[in-house]
Amino acid sequence: MFTLEGAEHAYRVLIESMNEGALTLTADKVILYANECFARMVKCPLEQVIGSSFRRFPLGGGPGRAPAPHEGGAASGHQDLQVLLEAADGSRLPAQISVREMAKDSSGRVTIGMVVTDMTEARRAEESLRALTQRVVQVQEAERGRLAGELHDNITQLLCGVLFSSQALVTKLAALDEPAQREAIKLRELLARTAEEVDRISRNLRPSELEHLGLEAALRATSREFTTRTGVPVELVVAPLAGRLPVEAELALYRILQESLDNVAKHARARRVYVSLAQPDGVVRLVINDDGAGFVPAQRAEGKEKRNLGLLSMRERAVAVGGTLSITSARRAGTEVEVRLPLAGGKAAGGALKAEGLKAKG
Ligand SMILES: Nc1ncnc2c1ncn2[C@@H]1O[C@H](COP(=O)(O)OP(=O)(O)OP(=O)(O)O)[C@@H](O)[C@H]1O
Ligand SMILES: [Mg+2]
Repeated sequence: MFTLEGAEHAYRVLIESMNEGALTLTADKVILYANECFARMVKCPLEQVIGSSFRRFPLGGGPGRAPAPHEGGAASGHQDLQVLLEAADGSRLPAQISVREMAKDSSGRVTIGMVVTDMTEARRAEESLRALTQRVVQVQEAERGRLAGELHDNITQLLCGVLFSSQALVTKLAALDEPAQREAIKLRELLARTAEEVDRISRNLRPSELEHLGLEAALRATSREFTTRTGVPVELVVAPLAGRLPVEAELALYRILQESLDNVAKHARARRVYVSLAQPDGVVRLVINDDGAGFVPAQRAEGKEKRNLGLLSMRERAVAVGGTLSITSARRAGTEVEVRLPLAGGKAAGGALKAEGLKAKG
């Protein structure tokens, strides 16, 4: 008896000093017990909380995820939910609720135990991280535009001049010195290849195809350029879209394809790549699929290589224009990147992402 009483006291002190709300409920959701912390969360005196129905504090769908299967469901008697808990004064608190069925009482009815965690700080941290990554993407886009400008205004102009002079040299040497002319021809060819390469880099930095020819042509050019560079064929299927997308959405899709193809070139050792763009039931859907080495996405997220920006910036670009990005991959089973952009009122939502140097399109 002595030990049990002692234990109960210890539990009570523990629960009262917790930084989480703790409750027990009857099966029909009457609150049997709640701690002070929960009363503070719902801004209601504790004596009014105890004995009232838990339904008094409505749960809105949380901004977070739905409970994942591994978190257990009704079958295991345990569930984790991300919710917006409405307090007595109508304010809403982002919270995680862990629900657990507890022992049956003497009449065979289960009681329910709940732990409520205030997620305000976690949400805030998540939001500032998101704002930061979106800012990184914006800065990256602006910097690419600036670099492309520098390349075009300085290097490309210079290269054209050198190329022109080398052609003149070839002509002049023709009459004088055959071996020297051969060297001059090699030099001219090398310069021409350098100029092409600079042009390619500059075009990738600033998507002029996108600006002038539209999304489909830009996706085609990127795919073609990838095949020329790597020898890996890309099968691109584009179904006609309902209309032109907002400029930010087009830029996001274009950059996601570029980044995905970069990954295929760097990591996949693929034999083929399939790309499709379509708009089934109003949702614009871009899929990039390769038959290469694949990887385990979860391991990547938790692994050492957190410095990698590719997948992260792809996801942020999709989110910034109101879409989602999912990756399906497994070792030796290839990789699929899927972007979905639901259209709000016939248009993908505009985002914080500004398309540097691109004009808005209808
Ligand atoms: N298509 C793919 N096939 C195989 N592995 C992939 C593929 N895409 C991504 N990965 C794996 O996921 C990791 C993360 O990709 P991510 O694009 O974020 O970074 P990265 O390509 O290594 O570097 P960065 O893009 O920043 O230059 C890669 O290092 C690679 O191991
Ligand atoms: Mg990458």
